[in-house]
Amino acid sequence: MGRVVYKSLPDMSKARDRVSNPSVIFDKLEFSDFIKEYGKGKKFFIKTHGCQANVRDEEIMAGYLLLCGFCRTFEPSEADIAIINTCAVREGAEDKIYGEIGTFKANKKKNPNFILGVCGCMMQQEGVAEFLTKTYQHISLIFGTHNISRLIDLIEEHIKTKKVIVEVKSCAGDIIENLPSCRLDNFKASVNISYGCNKFCTYCIVPYTRGKERSRPIQEIINECKALVESGYKEITLLGQNVNSYGKDIPDGPNFAVLLEEIAKLGIPRLRFMTSHPWDFSDDMLQVIAKYPNIMKCIHLPVQSGSDNILKKMGRRYTSEEYLALVKKIKTTIPGVALTTDIIVGFPNESEEDFLGTLKVCEAVKYDQAFTFIYSPRKGTPAAAIKDDVTAETKHERFNRLIKLVEEHVVENSNKMIGNEYTVLVDGPSKKDSEILSGYTETSKMVNFKGPAYLKGCIVNVKITENHAFSMTGELLDDPIIVKAKELKTVIDKEPCVIEYLDLKNKISNDTDLKQIRSEILKIEKDLRTANSTKEIKDRLKELNEKYASHPLIINLSFVEEKVKDLMKTIVGELQ
Ligand code: SAH
Ligand code: SF4
Ligand code: F3S
Repeated sequence: MGRVVYKSLPDMSKARDRVSNPSVIFDKLEFSDFIKEYGKGKKFFIKTHGCQANVRDEEIMAGYLLLCGFCRTFEPSEADIAIINTCAVREGAEDKIYGEIGTFKANKKKNPNFILGVCGCMMQQEGVAEFLTKTYQHISLIFGTHNISRLIDLIEEHIKTKKVIVEVKSCAGDIIENLPSCRLDNFKASVNISYGCNKFCTYCIVPYTRGKERSRPIQEIINECKALVESGYKEITLLGQNVNSYGKDIPDGPNFAVLLEEIAKLGIPRLRFMTSHPWDFSDDMLQVIAKYPNIMKCIHLPVQSGSDNILKKMGRRYTSEEYLALVKKIKTTIPGVALTTDIIVGFPNESEEDFLGTLKVCEAVKYDQAFTFIYSPRKGTPAAAIKDDVTAETKHERFNRLIKLVEEHVVENSNKMIGNEYTVLVDGPSKKDSEILSGYTETSKMVNFKGPAYLKGCIVNVKITENHAFSMTGELLDDPIIVKAKELKTVIDKEPCVIEYLDLKNKISNDTDLKQIRSEILKIEKDLRTANSTKEIKDRLKELNEKYASHPLIINLSFVEEKVKDLMKTIVGELQ
């Protein structure tokens, strides 16, 4: 047998499968003693490329590794196991990966048992796994987006056989629940609501790399969000390649508007969602967004092109007129809404007129942010087979014109923010200056302002003073100590030891035996102040005090009091 075990390899024809019915599987999270022993003291490092779906996969992979005793490092050279989580959406994204794989040769040199895993969307493309195993001798594992929950088994197999293990399934994909997770942020969380995509836009690889569109059961999503709210998260982003389609694959299932409302009602301070497709953006969705103040008034609505001819060739299912009508409806239903978009320049045979159509849409919408891309042919997608007559030079020239126009609109919109007040969720001190805090407004505008680091994770009021196009400068309007004190109060009130403490105090004040002892003690103490004490009275007082102190409720209280004191010490430390 060779050095590589190909358990499964991707197959684009199977990746198109939209017929099979995915199952919901609950992971039992059972791992062998072997891997738990192996993991002890070993460090893992994960590098993620691509979109939020990949970031969430990183959190899940980290969850699995932590359960097996591995610990996390953010320093690649320290890693005993490294995983590169790849993206395939454009060619540029792929080139970076090859360089990165190369850098881990140093780890292998230092440590012959070093494990390098490569996973993610790029692995779902035909030929990539074979190319990687041939080119790089230090890769230990290759697995696909449908094989994340197999991570630990694959690692174990590699350790035991010393073979390179390749497992990349091309399938509709199942829905795995009870996934472990180690979140990268303590205040902002992403929650998958659906996987895959059925839209098959002709330029896009995602429907092939991520499989059939499949919605998670609503109760599982609610439970996950509820747990996040209870543990103090401030912002949840509901994730799906196309959130509007949520529930369409569940017979009589809830739709996205219903799900969004259920999550908004859980009381998370900020709720976002990504991405919504202009084709099936329902009025119900719009009503829910308008109704709940905790649903952020910021909608990412990828237009891709403003030319009807190109939109048709892209398979986007709307015309520029329909898109603009939706934008108008959104802007009238949700005053002050921020709109962001994705635009592709240079789709095969895009004419100057087609491109001007895109500029016209930008002019009409005046986006608050636009992610602009030059079309990149993806092998296996219908658009990649179209003969293209547009030169790379023309594409770049159009791209530059587009970003210039987008920037003008961003500046124009941002100028209107100057002098106004906004709530900002603080991400923490900025990378450049530790005295400057950085965070985002409800409309996803980045704001930098002076403030103490302990405000990380708090929502504060900020007045905008300067516009730097893609970020703003502001002034903190709140008293930071008061903000933090209020914040701590809500955290403290939820702490189990504080709840237990308050409950015990309540029981103690209502307990009949204790009440009786207390009143007798008080009476004796009063008598002692007025009359001479006899030994008998003093002994009785001692006996009563001992009885009181040895009561189970009082003993319990002293234990809980210690826990509360420790909690206070931690909090004070946090403020310093
Ligand atoms: N599901 C989301 C995100 C898809 S990928 C959506 O539908 O919006 C993110 C963006 O990458 C897309 O919106 C598109 O603008 C861009 N993109 C996808 N395929 C591309 C390609 N082949 N070349 C250039 N950009 C592409
Ligand atoms: Fe790709 Fe279109 Fe699906 Fe978005 S909706 S992931 S662009 S196929
Ligand atoms: Fe990239 Fe896959 Fe996301 S191709 S954009 S990581 S779904």
